[in-house]
Amino acid sequence: MSVLEATTVDPQSSNTDESFGGFRNYEDSAHQDRVQRTYKNMHINQTREFVLENKQKYFALNVAEMHVYEVFKRLESIVDESDPDSDLPQIIHAYQSAESICDYAMGDEHTLRDDLDIESLFTKQTWLALPEQRRAAFKGKNLKAFYPEVEDWSWFPLVGFIHDLGKVMLLPEFGCLPQWAVVGDTYPVGAPFASANVFYSKGFYKKAQDYGMYETDTQTHFGMYSKHCGFDAVDMTWGHDEYIYEVMAKGSEIHPYGLYLLRYHSFYPWHTPQNGEMAYLELASEYDWHLLPLLKAFQKADLYSKSPHLPPLDILERKYTSLMEIHIPKSVIRW
Ligand SMILES: [Fe+2]
Ligand SMILES: [Fe+2]
Repeated sequence: MSVLEATTVDPQSSNTDESFGGFRNYEDSAHQDRVQRTYKNMHINQTREFVLENKQKYFALNVAEMHVYEVFKRLESIVDESDPDSDLPQIIHAYQSAESICDYAMGDEHTLRDDLDIESLFTKQTWLALPEQRRAAFKGKNLKAFYPEVEDWSWFPLVGFIHDLGKVMLLPEFGCLPQWAVVGDTYPVGAPFASANVFYSKGFYKKAQDYGMYETDTQTHFGMYSKHCGFDAVDMTWGHDEYIYEVMAKGSEIHPYGLYLLRYHSFYPWHTPQNGEMAYLELASEYDWHLLPLLKAFQKADLYSKSPHLPPLDILERKYTSLMEIHIPKSVIRW
């Protein structure tokens, strides 16, 4: 079977249980060893100091000047070792995520569909575990009506297309970072490690050099930060989210909500916790709560995209090239 012919999964039919429709299996997938190894190294080595060092190094954007498609060509050989679900080339995952957003969330090229219920984006358990006031704000609303401030959504599939490009940091010419510094779920550093993180029960995080420095004795998760400071004021583990966010914040004209999705798409303990109970709520601002439904919609498209049918590649290439001409008008950008 070619990579383009895998079975289709309907994302809307998969949200009634906590099994993630068979995805995100961190117990006994075919790739269990390499997945666990990646997270073990991450939880031990992603100290706040490591994060700050990499921000300083990569935020200068002086690694390369390239067109987005050129970066994809470089990524062709990469496999994400934190991913229990997929061995597909990154370019296929990129097209799948983008097309999955079109199918799942878009009404036409410029607008969201008006029948996507916010409640349907959550698993039952997470929905019920939301703070009362937040659940009330989302209840009975559809995604389009929730964001009347956005007039043009044409950037949304493009964000799906480019969201994993930061994985290029795995390559020698982009710094050759180890897998644990590039892929996998992200979480705040400088704050206590929450039980909503995958492999929490293994306790790897206790071996981190700065473990204990940011623990509090009050069972809270805001550590060195002020309460409700907002995620933009938090140092997250270093990875492909933060890097592509920085590249696109400086090199594109993508809507701020699209940039937000790039930056937090891997923040699973917040948007889609493995144990059903969202963590790091004390760090979230009103802005983070407002964008949670959109992040959920993106996450569903990203996750369940690991299987839909795709149109022929030449058609896809034309479609996403013209979206890039609009939203990333400089043909060559700094990385
Ligand atoms: Fe990603
Ligand atoms: Fe992805």
